[in-house]
Amino acid sequence: MTGESVKSAGATATKVDITVTVDTTGTTTTIESANATVKLIIPPSAAYLGKTFTIRSAPKPSGVKVVSRFYYDFSTTATQPFNPALMLVLRCDSSLTGMQDIAIYHYTNLGKWEQADGGRYFFSTDSTVAVPNMNTFDIGYTNITGFSGYAAAQIFFGGYNYPLQYTDTATAGPHGNYTSTTNKCKECHAVHLAIGTYDLTRVNARNETCDFCHGIGGVASKQVTLDQNGHGADPGRAEVTAPGDTDIPYSKNAKSWGCLECHSAHDKQTTKLAGLSSDKLLKADPNPLKNKNYLYYTPVVGETTQTISQWCSTCHNANFGPSTDLKTVLFGSKTGRVAGHSSSSQGSTTTPDGYADVKFNGTGPTCQQCHPADGRIGTSEFPHSSGSVPGMLRSGITQRGMDGVCTSCHNTVTLP
Ligand code: HEC
Ligand code: HEC
Ligand code: HEC
Ligand code: HEC
Ligand code: HEC
Ligand code: HEC
Repeated sequence: MTGESVKSAGATATKVDITVTVDTTGTTTTIESANATVKLIIPPSAAYLGKTFTIRSAPKPSGVKVVSRFYYDFSTTATQPFNPALMLVLRCDSSLTGMQDIAIYHYTNLGKWEQADGGRYFFSTDSTVAVPNMNTFDIGYTNITGFSGYAAAQIFFGGYNYPLQYTDTATAGPHGNYTSTTNKCKECHAVHLAIGTYDLTRVNARNETCDFCHGIGGVASKQVTLDQNGHGADPGRAEVTAPGDTDIPYSKNAKSWGCLECHSAHDKQTTKLAGLSSDKLLKADPNPLKNKNYLYYTPVVGETTQTISQWCSTCHNANFGPSTDLKTVLFGSKTGRVAGHSSSSQGSTTTPDGYADVKFNGTGPTCQQCHPADGRIGTSEFPHSSGSVPGMLRSGITQRGMDGVCTSCHNTVTLP
């Protein structure tokens, strides 16, 4: 293949399988996946003439926080150590700053992640290194003399335990079940060498305490992002108020809004809602200011009969219950009495024609039946995020095209 940018036609973001044979000594050869998540730059040299280079998607590593978007395996028929050295560019999930603690990692044949030797990182705003078509989401490596590295990851620093020492899902990893034979506190809190100022964690702010493990590229198997079409508030806002809450409205500083409103990191004072496989670390009372003054929910630690829809109504009171039940709601600075679509604990059932069984007896859908949050591809979306779909509604729904929500349950033919 002559010295041009060789893009793989078949390669998508997650599945890359490109093999290229260098057939020129005249120019630089660039091999990249179709969407530029991985790019290998081979300088012109007789050493590479007739040699093949292969880039393949590899399984996601565990135990390190990977910042590049995907993971790759490299192989070649060329002689290693490479002379002249190669360059590699990997796309990351967000623009990177303060890159001092980023390294290139490889998976050893002992099945362990280690920092690779050789290869010096730089990132796109580093003007001293000229690499074609870098953007702010790219991280690059110069001076690659051997193929072993295929992911960019954050180097560990500080007095924390290697995360995922406790992967037992029965006790939800580092969350809870602390005994004299476990050493879980240090997965999140460093006693002396803490790198963050918030409660000896890795970060300085309460709403970032979960990112290291559950953020994109984090080490936990369940990765969660909050977005503004779900439960992510814009931190630029002063206050975040739950829409549809009744007296006293749930309201808090938008900067500290996040995972810890709903979940307990230590699995303390949690509840196992009916229908869920575990407590999911859900706080029995996520809105304590209300002082147990809920219309349809009674916070009880360890409780197992109340449903997730009832739990949601701790912050969105007006959205739960029969459609005849008027509730006092705050609209901006005004209060008013409103009723909502019937929403029940057990949810609605369907008739043989596939539409909802409308009985007018208070058996309306659960929150999730109308708000499945399936607009993004991935797991753990409900009730966290929904990509670009407004209000965690169904995939494909837009601000001006919401009737599809209703017609999936109500047969328009039979409406009066
Ligand atoms: C999964 C991560 C994680 C683990 C493991 C963990 N913690 Fe925490 N811890 C947190 C977070 C996050 C907070 C902040 C909670 C908040 O702001 O609501 C916190 C807060 C605390 C606090 C401050 C409580 C307060 O009143 O402000 C103490 C003390 C604490 N943890 C001790 C421990 C001990 C002891 C262990 C082990 C038995 C432990 N933690 C294990 C994440 C963790
Ligand atoms: C040190 C790594 C680490 C940190 C930090 C961490 N978690 Fe986890 N978490 C895990 C692991 C490991 C599991 C087990 C399953 C898995 O691999 O995702 C888990 C599981 C969970 C579960 C699922 C529980 C269940 O019953 O299914 C929830 C919810 C959760 N974490 C929330 C949080 C929240 C909220 C924070 C921030 C306060 C947090 N985690 C911080 C590692 C971590
Ligand atoms: C508005 C409340 C709320 C917020 C905020 C929230 N969660 Fe959740 N989370 C839930 C509920 C409810 C579930 C259970 C959903 C289900 O299983 O149907 C859940 C489930 C989970 C699970 C388990 C997913 C699974 O597949 O078993 C993890 C992990 C988790 N949340 C982590 C987080 C993290 C990390 C954050 C912050 C980035 C966060 N959550 C913010 C309410 C919340
Ligand atoms: C019959 C379907 C349906 C059910 C059931 C339902 N929702 Fe909604 N919800 C919608 C639709 C459609 C919108 C967007 C249109 C609008 O804002 O009126 C919405 C908007 C919202 C909003 C933002 C606007 C606001 O003022 O409330 C919240 C919050 C909400 N729902 C929460 C819930 C919760 C919590 C439940 C369960 C207790 C629930 N919904 C049950 C269909 C439903
Ligand atoms: C701790 C309080 C709290 C709990 C519990 C809670 N929410 Fe929310 N919810 C909020 C807040 C605050 C917002 C507004 C977020 C924002 O403005 O970005 C919100 C927003 C929403 C929205 C509207 C999103 C949009 O695009 O406007 C929906 C839908 C919703 N919640 C559904 C649910 C469901 C379903 C549950 C139960 C699984 C739930 N909420 C549990 C506080 C909560
Ligand atoms: C998940 C299925 C489902 C969806 C989606 C749905 N509905 Fe319903 N709807 C029902 C059921 C079930 C009832 C009967 C509730 C009862 O028995 O109280 C109902 C009842 C109604 C009623 C009668 C008044 C009442 O609440 O008792 C109206 C009006 C209505 N729905 C309008 C809508 C509109 C408008 C939408 C779209 C925003 C919508 N529905 C979406 C299932 C659904």
